[in-house]
Amino acid sequence: MHIGMVGTGYVGLVSGTCFAEFGHSVVCADKDANKIESLRKGEIPIYEPGLEDLLKRQIESGRITFTTDISDAVKDSQAVFIAVGTPSRRFCRDADLSYVHDAAREIAKNMNGYTVVVNKSTVPVGTGREVEHIMRETRPDADFDIASNPEFLREGAAIDDFMRPDRVVVGTSSERAQNVMREVYRPLYLNETPILFTKRETAEVIKYAANAFLATKITFINEIADLCEQVGADVQQVSKGIGLDKRVGDKFLHAGPGYGGSCFPKDTLALTRAGQKYTAPQRIVETVVSVNEDRKARMADKIIAACGGDVRGKTIGILGVAFKPNTDDMRDAPALTIIPVLQQAGAKIKAYDPESMGEAKKLIDNVTWCENAYDVAENADALALVTEWNEFRALDMDRIGEVLGRKTIVDLRNIYKVSEMEDKGFHYVSIGRREVNPKEASGQLKATA
Ligand SMILES: NC(=O)c1ccc[n+]([C@@H]2O[C@H](COP(=O)([O-])OP(=O)(O)OC[C@H]3O[C@@H](n4cnc5c(N)ncnc54)[C@H](O)[C@@H]3O)[C@@H](O)[C@H]2O)c1
Repeated sequence: MHIGMVGTGYVGLVSGTCFAEFGHSVVCADKDANKIESLRKGEIPIYEPGLEDLLKRQIESGRITFTTDISDAVKDSQAVFIAVGTPSRRFCRDADLSYVHDAAREIAKNMNGYTVVVNKSTVPVGTGREVEHIMRETRPDADFDIASNPEFLREGAAIDDFMRPDRVVVGTSSERAQNVMREVYRPLYLNETPILFTKRETAEVIKYAANAFLATKITFINEIADLCEQVGADVQQVSKGIGLDKRVGDKFLHAGPGYGGSCFPKDTLALTRAGQKYTAPQRIVETVVSVNEDRKARMADKIIAACGGDVRGKTIGILGVAFKPNTDDMRDAPALTIIPVLQQAGAKIKAYDPESMGEAKKLIDNVTWCENAYDVAENADALALVTEWNEFRALDMDRIGEVLGRKTIVDLRNIYKVSEMEDKGFHYVSIGRREVNPKEASGQLKATA
């Protein structure tokens, strides 16, 4: 099949490369000429494990090409995917659909024969209808269908998620379009991946509902962690105790500094806006959004408290700034809230991240960027572990203890054991695992009973 991909960011690039691996012939278009120039050489502008090798193989096979000219991606393609960004608008916090609308207009101008235009960007319900309207206005004569095919890949595990998804959702009532989409996903179909055909609106709601549900799960366990800290319970054991129940499931139950990234923050916000627009308020998700925002700032307060309540003139070392490991994506990363709050409180910041420092430097000022975790710890008053990269999971804590001024570690990802860190003489603070003295705990419980 011939497939066009409009937008070659995270989703467009991974999807285009994987479609080429399926055996399709893919043309990827992006209006960013620098990006296209690098991609032609097989250089990828993002960090995603396995992607560079896979892409190089597809370029060598000739199954994938890159262009700034959208007509090359559209004219011979049976399916053209829209994979452009849908960021939150700055003031009203709705999803900004201007990139989707522009892409729709350009696709319409260049279509040649029956085409299925597939929206892979995450968009509010009703966008498929709007795109159809824009395209009909631009090209009343054209023969096309619009389908919604939301993407569920996770950054850091994107290729595996795309090649072995839990399910593929396709929203279109047109049988002709369904047949084209069956061909697009044929290799997965043969693997018995569930392919769910729905109405377009249903597919659009599925994507926002899925992300909002996961964001809710994270926020739920974060609040449970706050309770654990007050009563001397252990949130990791609570997660295990509830996660073993198959109705709950054990994923997305790790307490931490609050969710970030390119999807959950903007998609939860956009869902609340859709709820207001259609007078179906999404009150649970509204609460999730505000609890999560507060939490990121509270993580900075937690670090300040661990430093005795005052960080003026103190140096805080930050380990990890990306919103999660295995990505260089800094969009809405908790570190972007935590570091400025610490700086406003008078702290000096040293930091290290294996992949995202290039991006982070553009977004945060006055940080001393280091070469590794030990450089960060050198003469710092406290160390805060913000992103759980594998290389931070087995640090030589004796070495850290020797160079870290006051031996204070705030582990916002719970990757170390409380007892081991305390045995090594650290003042160790983590999430939802404060070891309170049993008498103190029973006193507190009685006091509030
Ligand atoms: N990043 C993720 O993990 C993820 C996962 C699932 C879904 N999504 C959704 O997929 C969509 C894309 O996300 P992303 O992270 O890949 O975005 P991105 O910002 O990384 O990439 C978007 C790309 O589209 C290009 N573009 C914009 N308008 C264009 C036009 N008219 N013609 C050609 N190119 C154009 C931009 O130059 C950019 O390279 C969003 O709606 C997002 O919510 C993202």
